Amino acid sequence: MKLCCMGAGYVGGPTMAMIAYKCPDIQVTVVDVNEEKIAAWNSDELPVYEPGLFEIVKDVRGVNLFFSTDVEGAVAEADMVFVCVGTPTKKKGVGAGQAADLQYVEAAARVIARVSKTPKIVVEKSTIPVRTAEAIGTILKANSGVGKFQVLSNPEFLAEGTAIRDLLEPDRVLIGGERSREGDVAVERLASIYARWVPREKIITTNLWSSELSKLVANAFLAQRVSSINAVSALCEVTGADVDEVARAIGMDSRIGPKFLRASVGFGGSCFQKDILNLSYLCEHFGLPMVARYWQSVVHMNDWQKNRFRHKIVREMFNTVAGKRVAVLGFAFKKDTNDTRESPAIDVCRGLLEEGAVVAVYDPKVSREVIVRELDGVGGERDLSLEVCGSAIEAVQGAHAIAILTEWDEFRGLPYEEFYKVMLKPPFLFDGRNLLDHERLVKIGFRVYPIGKPPLILEQSAN
Ligand SMILES: NC(=O)c1ccc[n+]([C@@H]2O[C@H](COP(=O)([O-])OP(=O)(O)OC[C@H]3O[C@@H](n4cnc5c(N)ncnc54)[C@H](O)[C@@H]3O)[C@@H](O)[C@H]2O)c1
Repeated sequence: MKLCCMGAGYVGGPTMAMIAYKCPDIQVTVVDVNEEKIAAWNSDELPVYEPGLFEIVKDVRGVNLFFSTDVEGAVAEADMVFVCVGTPTKKKGVGAGQAADLQYVEAAARVIARVSKTPKIVVEKSTIPVRTAEAIGTILKANSGVGKFQVLSNPEFLAEGTAIRDLLEPDRVLIGGERSREGDVAVERLASIYARWVPREKIITTNLWSSELSKLVANAFLAQRVSSINAVSALCEVTGADVDEVARAIGMDSRIGPKFLRASVGFGGSCFQKDILNLSYLCEHFGLPMVARYWQSVVHMNDWQKNRFRHKIVREMFNTVAGKRVAVLGFAFKKDTNDTRESPAIDVCRGLLEEGAVVAVYDPKVSREVIVRELDGVGGERDLSLEVCGSAIEAVQGAHAIAILTEWDEFRGLPYEEFYKVMLKPPFLFDGRNLLDHERLVKIGFRVYPIGKPPLILEQSAN
């Protein structure tokens, strides 16, 4: 059996690596129009950082896993084609700022139709609006003339940072298909691939529209939880309650559960915001404006939380950060990934640069090019207001403040006593992830500002 995956991104690369790893008899080819990305997948510097990914890729690459720019060739040869291209939010035209931009999905469908000599199973892995399978089916039918393609929906639920673990032991695999004999056969062919390592009871099948919609709804629920606890964090700060204590107390209710209750500077990543906006656009489209507004408020709360964090930095640092050095530790949207898409660090750094601060960024996995590109046009490296540092100590040297923006484990063990010595006094520490030992930091002499808890300031550091 030959599989082809169109799109060698954060989902296509790891997902296909796992299938190749678990199914030695299946040949998997991942194709992309981006030559640089494919070259990186074929090198020792993979374009995606995920714990455990490199080891798996190394094991199967060149054996039954291939990365190629020959999109048409690989699609033509495959029995099953996964569409795993990006579905970003539309930037202009109807639905700009909300609807999913489906141009890459449509282009992929047209390639499949053009080069296929026989009908194939086409698997939507990209996150798409409900009923996109219908559009793909129509394009395939109108442009190929080789018979009926089966279109399946198989949304990916992996989380960046834990992608390999999530792929190895998924909570569930969801496959949506046409309710017909041919549809059932196609669903079973895909299910039998996952069944090599995923228990059958975790592979659930639904109709196409339920599967497509479930992915958007899952992300909306997850993001809603983050916005809910972040909303509570603001209330904690003004009432003297502690958001971690509240989260623990409510999380022990089995109906609520303890996961995804960590307050922070805000959620990021390529999916939550885009998928909620897309869901809310769908609601508008289907005449449900109240439902659309309900989901939109989750994104508004997230924007508010990110702004609240940077306003707090300015306010607490005597209402000005102009000319002050702020060491930003962490730029990825979460730990254990090099992905910075929609990272709260971007908004916070942009805000600080606009206020005239000197921003010194250190992230263990995000490259200098990416950081400079994300902050381009605000400060820029040339006018020296943005510095990208190779270590945390380099960033904090001569800084007035530290802002923790990603929960990288290594930040817990940094020598904050040493940092205190090389920083200007009083040194501020804004912990946007509630990651550090605040009691210890305040004893060292930092003025500590967590999320959802009162600030910790000792008398001597207040002077
Ligand atoms: N990133 C996540 O955590 C995550 C999780 C679940 C689902 N998803 C969904 O999966 C999809 C892909 O996300 P991603 O993060 O991997 O995106 P990505 O931007 O990392 O990768 C998409 C890739 O598709 C390539 N591409 C575009 N058109 C192509 C074509 N015609 N032929 C071949 N390649 C083409 C692009 O060059 C790009 O490399 C999106 O719909 C996203 O919403 C993402």
